Amino acid sequence: MNLDALNDDFGIPGKIQFEAGHGGLPMAKVSNDNCLGEMYLHGAHVTGYQPLGSDPLLWMSGESFFFPDKPIRGGVPLCWPWFGAHPTDPELPQHGLARIADWDVASTNQLADDTSEVVMRLTDNAETRAAWAHPFELMMRACFGEELTLELTISNSGDEPFDSATAIHTYFAVENIEAVTIRGLAGRQFTDQLDNNALKLQSGSLRFRAEVDRVYVDSEDDVVIEQEGRPAVHVSKTGSRSTVVWNPWIAKSQRMPDFPDDGYQTMVCVETTNAESDVRTLQPGRTHVIRQVVAPVDG
Ligand code: BG6
Repeated sequence: MNLDALNDDFGIPGKIQFEAGHGGLPMAKVSNDNCLGEMYLHGAHVTGYQPLGSDPLLWMSGESFFFPDKPIRGGVPLCWPWFGAHPTDPELPQHGLARIADWDVASTNQLADDTSEVVMRLTDNAETRAAWAHPFELMMRACFGEELTLELTISNSGDEPFDSATAIHTYFAVENIEAVTIRGLAGRQFTDQLDNNALKLQSGSLRFRAEVDRVYVDSEDDVVIEQEGRPAVHVSKTGSRSTVVWNPWIAKSQRMPDFPDDGYQTMVCVETTNAESDVRTLQPGRTHVIRQVVAPVDG
């Protein structure tokens, strides 16, 4: 990827610049009066969002791979067109193709209120069709401003319908997982991925004392991540009726090669998804938009 060409075509002086990131992978670096941000072309992966005067909102693994054939660990992986293991072929990559594909930059813009927009695009190619037969176009729009907006538009550019699952798999940085409370899921049902996908009911807000891996299957509500001693983070969404919450806790952290053993203490994933019963069928020529908006709560 030619960084000079990217900067000539899409750089916005003083706001958006393309640089070589970790592993030499190209990334957009955003700096404006609201925030700092980072987005790699590999996976259209947002790896940083820090409102000015605040701590970084996203967690990044210090042991992440930055290799063309591996997902980045932390930030916002984009899982598509399947979530988790492939339903029939265990050889295919976990969480789909999008997060290990190299995307193109489609556009950049400086919007109102000093918000910087980066849009990346992925279409089917020989490699994607070998794993998933359908023609498609994905547009990933990230707006870095007072809040972080992440919006994936999925288009069926073929002539057969397809089903696709999506996760905007955001890793939030927390100071201490045992001091975190997640509100907005009480009364919702979830499938417990740690208990043979048993369907369970969430009573009250969610706290963490062990591994958590849940797909809330009827959740359209906003979620608030509260922490003692730190501002809360508000997560809202559209185009999604399912929410995944994940913390690997001790043993799984130790098993993951790109994850620090104690990493579970300072992160939690709250994912805006189309998973399980919320997988979407797209007819030819139709699009689906799934959006997550992340904002620090004042005070
Ligand atoms: C979560 C899943 O969304 O992603 C977990 O619910 C999984 O089961 C986690 O462990 C991380 O997946 P990966 O493929 O990035 O290690």
